[in-house]
Amino acid sequence: MDHLDPGTTPWMAARVGKAFEQAYGGTPDLVARAPGRVNLIGEHTDYNGGRCLPLALPHATYVAARRREDDRVRISSLTVEGEWTGSTKDLAAAPGWASYVTGVLWVLEVERGFDLVIASSVPVGSGLSSSAALECAVAVAVDALHGHPLDDVRRRHLAAACMRAESEIAGAPTGGMDQLVAMLAPDGDALLIDFHDDSTRPVPVPLQEGGLQLLVIDTGVRHALADGAYAARRRECEAAAHLLGVPTLARASEDSWSRLSDDVLMRRARHVLTECERVDTADQAIIEGEWAELGAVLDASHASLAHDFEVSCAELDVAVETARAAGALGARMTGGGFGGSVIALAPADRVTDVAATVAAAYAARGWSSPTFLVAEPSAPAGVVG
Ligand code: GLA
Repeated sequence: MDHLDPGTTPWMAARVGKAFEQAYGGTPDLVARAPGRVNLIGEHTDYNGGRCLPLALPHATYVAARRREDDRVRISSLTVEGEWTGSTKDLAAAPGWASYVTGVLWVLEVERGFDLVIASSVPVGSGLSSSAALECAVAVAVDALHGHPLDDVRRRHLAAACMRAESEIAGAPTGGMDQLVAMLAPDGDALLIDFHDDSTRPVPVPLQEGGLQLLVIDTGVRHALADGAYAARRRECEAAAHLLGVPTLARASEDSWSRLSDDVLMRRARHVLTECERVDTADQAIIEGEWAELGAVLDASHASLAHDFEVSCAELDVAVETARAAGALGARMTGGGFGGSVIALAPADRVTDVAATVAAAYAARGWSSPTFLVAEPSAPAGVVG
């Protein structure tokens, strides 16, 4: 299918290097890359101390970086309009997209300045974690320029720094899944993360053996996690945990949600607790190659996100329902919600039909066409040039 986006290609690193020369003259000291992600299952569980199962996409953000001798910081992007320049003293005050970059420099307490040029193949606002890809690419670039080897401990340190940057400077109190998978993704596998103790485990997902592919449908409806709805869900979860007497919702017993008398808090808690169980069911289904079971659990996740957690929208629901009707084994929204993307587990020979049917359903409603990509588990962040 010609409108299936293949994701990152090796020329992205060269392209961002060339753009650096044009913007700032001379060559960058290095180029770093960090991937976007899709979450297979385990949505809105990370900030509740629960489990999730994301994988890194081949789509990634590239940062060409060069150290400066003074305290100036210059940031420009091939993906988003505009340039930000300032000093290392202004890092906490950058507006808009630049705050995702300056926030990381601020958390890492850089003293000297940098010239940074950014290019990305992760669609912005698509629920594929473009912001974590940007933060992690910047963190890896700057950390490498400070001479730190990128071992596992450092990767976790940088993921935590990026998370802090996103919540304290960019103003989106996200839960950590996106940064952790961008930094720790096992190349070619999904990553099970348990936020109870931040432990991780690679999960091979041999979809090919089942004759399947994971189709990503970007609805084109743009969300902003900083707009308050995400923070409101977090507060509701914290309130529910408080009423149940546990530090985080995932620590509550399986059916304890039924003890909550407030209908909204009961449904939020039910989503989180049942979603953690669905992660375990999905993990087991993948190990056993029970693909129909995996499809069913994706469907159940979407229903729970739509009805109990209330983070879906018409465009996501139509993509999910149409994908299923066109032959997907299961489908669900992925990421924070309120727009963004859907994943559909589809027989490889039906992926084109599923995409075409979803595009037709959108056209019939007068909505602009969604875009499509096939998710292949890819590599974590690193220096690439
Ligand atoms: C966004 C956040 C993540 C996570 C998901 C929902 O992607 O960045 O931390 O909470 O939403 O699962």
